[in-house]
Amino acid sequence: MSEGKVLQSVGFIGAGAVGTALAIALRRLGYPVMAAASRTTASAKALAARVDGCEAVNGPQDVADRASLVFLTTPDDAIEAVAASVRWSQGQGVVHCSGVKPAEALDAAKRQGAMVGTFHPFQTFASVDQALEDLPGITYGIEAEGELLQSLESLAITLGGKPVQIPADARAAYHASAIIACGYMVALAEAGAGLWEAAGLSRQDGLDALVPLMGATVKNIGKQGTIQAFTGPLVRGDVGTVRLHLETLGRYAPHLVSLYCRLGLEALPLAAKKGRLSVDARNELEGLLQGRLVTEDQHAEA
Ligand SMILES: NC(=O)c1ccc[n+]([C@@H]2O[C@H](COP(=O)([O-])OP(=O)(O)OC[C@H]3O[C@@H](n4cnc5c(N)ncnc54)[C@H](OP(=O)(O)O)[C@@H]3O)[C@@H](O)[C@H]2O)c1
Repeated sequence: MSEGKVLQSVGFIGAGAVGTALAIALRRLGYPVMAAASRTTASAKALAARVDGCEAVNGPQDVADRASLVFLTTPDDAIEAVAASVRWSQGQGVVHCSGVKPAEALDAAKRQGAMVGTFHPFQTFASVDQALEDLPGITYGIEAEGELLQSLESLAITLGGKPVQIPADARAAYHASAIIACGYMVALAEAGAGLWEAAGLSRQDGLDALVPLMGATVKNIGKQGTIQAFTGPLVRGDVGTVRLHLETLGRYAPHLVSLYCRLGLEALPLAAKKGRLSVDARNELEGLLQGRLVTEDQHAEA
């Protein structure tokens, strides 16, 4: 895979978590990161201070004037307006890092002859330093064409990641998958720790217990796939345990009953694929979860 001229110099507009982490990572790999701008000078300076050879400049236009490849790492809602506020050059690369927005958000740059695309790191950037540690092995969702596509794919590989082309009409589903598996995993941890508290135990003890469990589960999914990684009463066909859970949730955390049922119904086919669940037990579990869900829904409507 060849790296095009577009990677000769790199700039960032938007010096937040993603812009700063990518700028540092690219510089460490030897890419010349020349300029950074942000809404505030302080953020641009903070990024530049961590990237050798990078200058904090006055605004987006100064970045565009200095870099052959410009990353728009602003919040999603600012991408179009920032792209439209700049004079771009013929053949210049302009990419944003949003997972959900299509490359079309950069049409203003495309109309001026720039090559536009997306370069979405499929990772959570809760902090710059943690994100830098967590970059190797991630997927980059790319939408681009021609020379820019080749360069971005090459960049993803150099960063130790896996480039995957995500066309415009698949981006929302692609992004929703991250929210379900990552963002809502945090909500599940919160719900789990809350259950400890509701049962008179320590919430912190709950989190301490849940985190290694969740970590091992994620590791198992990666190593063995979702079917092998799935364990618990649904796999064993322990109907009594599920019934007890539902009774207990109804007492301590009624708001979690429908969540438990919906996720249980989603997971039941996975449990069946593991091969230990009899048809009778599967039907009984399905009836139990479905029945309780209907009761909950009727309750909510009343
Ligand atoms: N966070 C994640 O986990 C994650 C993961 C993958 C992709 N992304 C995507 O990466 C992009 C950036 O997200 P982020 O989490 O890095 O956001 P962020 O931490 O909020 O940073 C955004 C930066 O953009 C700057 N900014 C805001 N409006 C601007 C404007 N009009 N012109 C120039 N700069 C402006 C802000 O500047 P000041 O600091 O100067 O106010 C801020 O530093 C988004 O498209 C997001 O969807 C995020």
